[in-house]
Amino acid sequence: MKLMRDTMKNNKVYYECFGCQMNAFDLEVIKGMMLQDGFRSVSSPAEADVIIVNTCSVREHAETRAIGRLNDLSRHKNVLLAVCGCMAQRMGESILELVPGLSLVAGPDNYNMLPSVIKELLDSGGRYVVADLDSSLTYPLFPQVENKRVSRFLSITRGCENYCSYCIVPYLRGRVRSKMHRQIIDEINMLHDNGAKEVTLLGQNVMAYNSSEIDFIGLLNLILSETEIERIRFLTTHPRDINSGVFELMADNKRVCPHIHLPFQSGSDRILKIMNRGYSRSHYLEIISSARAIKPDLAVTTDIIVGFPSETDDDFNETLDIVEKVGFDSAFTFKYSPRAGTQAFGMEDSVPREVKENRLEILNNAVGSIRKKILERLVGSIDEILLDGTVKKGENHYSKGRTPHFRNVLLENGSFSDGDVVKAVIDRLLNYTLYGKEVRRR
Ligand code: SAH
Ligand code: SF4
Ligand code: F3S
Repeated sequence: MKLMRDTMKNNKVYYECFGCQMNAFDLEVIKGMMLQDGFRSVSSPAEADVIIVNTCSVREHAETRAIGRLNDLSRHKNVLLAVCGCMAQRMGESILELVPGLSLVAGPDNYNMLPSVIKELLDSGGRYVVADLDSSLTYPLFPQVENKRVSRFLSITRGCENYCSYCIVPYLRGRVRSKMHRQIIDEINMLHDNGAKEVTLLGQNVMAYNSSEIDFIGLLNLILSETEIERIRFLTTHPRDINSGVFELMADNKRVCPHIHLPFQSGSDRILKIMNRGYSRSHYLEIISSARAIKPDLAVTTDIIVGFPSETDDDFNETLDIVEKVGFDSAFTFKYSPRAGTQAFGMEDSVPREVKENRLEILNNAVGSIRKKILERLVGSIDEILLDGTVKKGENHYSKGRTPHFRNVLLENGSFSDGDVVKAVIDRLLNYTLYGKEVRRR
């Protein structure tokens, strides 16, 4: 293998990734496949023989950025430019007109063929487009030779069949499929052997996990008993499928981190209905209060859309009300973006841009001030920080890490290594950043 890598020509690949954690994980899969086939990663496009860009289509802006970036990258000479991911799936051949320098377009279920197609295109030139969905495909994770990070993603399901009326994902990612539980256990053990301390299980809706009679809670129990990974996280969950067993596991076992990302999208029952979300505002609030009855310190984060078709000020105020009532650690907030092919595309995009922008600003201020209060309350507390890197602020260097609740903390004055779990006292908050000092090394 080494001989092949050293002697193979045109084997240097530069990667870039847009979009969600699923895309970040898919890029790891692609890198693993390419490495097995004799390609190796480089850190700048100027050194590359091949450039692979993984793209997102969730909002129009995501696509505009990706097209711009692809055209920039296509200025590099003698390089094979490939696009994959959700935008490749959605646009197929038509991207070739928008990015004339492209040689390869491959949708999310077509990565197995990437190394061989790339070799062929490098040898003989030409262009290739493939965007077929495969409702049974899950990708194995290849041995992680290049990536030794402390915190790793692992996709346990692919696809989505919820068909929220605004969302393009089900059309681009296909039907829900779950990776075999035995394979997940093996892959987590492999990541752990490679230095990972934390794994985040990924899916558009992880609680829909189901493989040979094992559901999501069953899978968490297996991971707890058959792996030694220190911290387990998961993303994303849909209120429709919440299983309170997960909060019991958090209460019983500190390896299951006390944080849930539970998008609510809108606080108005009328809007939730036309979004096809399948729950009401009261149901959402009930989930949070019963979860906190089991795990009182649970950290909750969310996704929110403003300016969905026909959203009034009253609807928006109900969204603000949920933000106040729940107290989110943080929220991803978006202006509604019409996506061709979705159900909502047929509705008039009736909320003017300025109104969307104004609502987004009000919402972000509300989310920000609650976030600040939550973080302020932590000053003086002691927590365990899993370190995963260093940052420089001004003249000072800090180790950076996360609490079990998914809060970032910077630690001063230590000779720490990535992967250390450091018991620290949080001693100040500055511009939404928590700072701490070591209490006792584990
Ligand atoms: N599967 C996840 C979300 C995946 S998309 C879930 O259901 O929770 C991530 C977020 O993008 C969504 O939660 C939603 O808030 C936002 N989003 C999706 N489609 C959008 C659109 N057309 N316009 C604006 N935001 C959108
Ligand atoms: Fe999109 Fe809804 Fe599926 Fe999430 S659950 S990916 S928002 S359709
Ligand atoms: Fe974007 Fe595809 Fe993820 S559309 S949000 S990269 S599933």
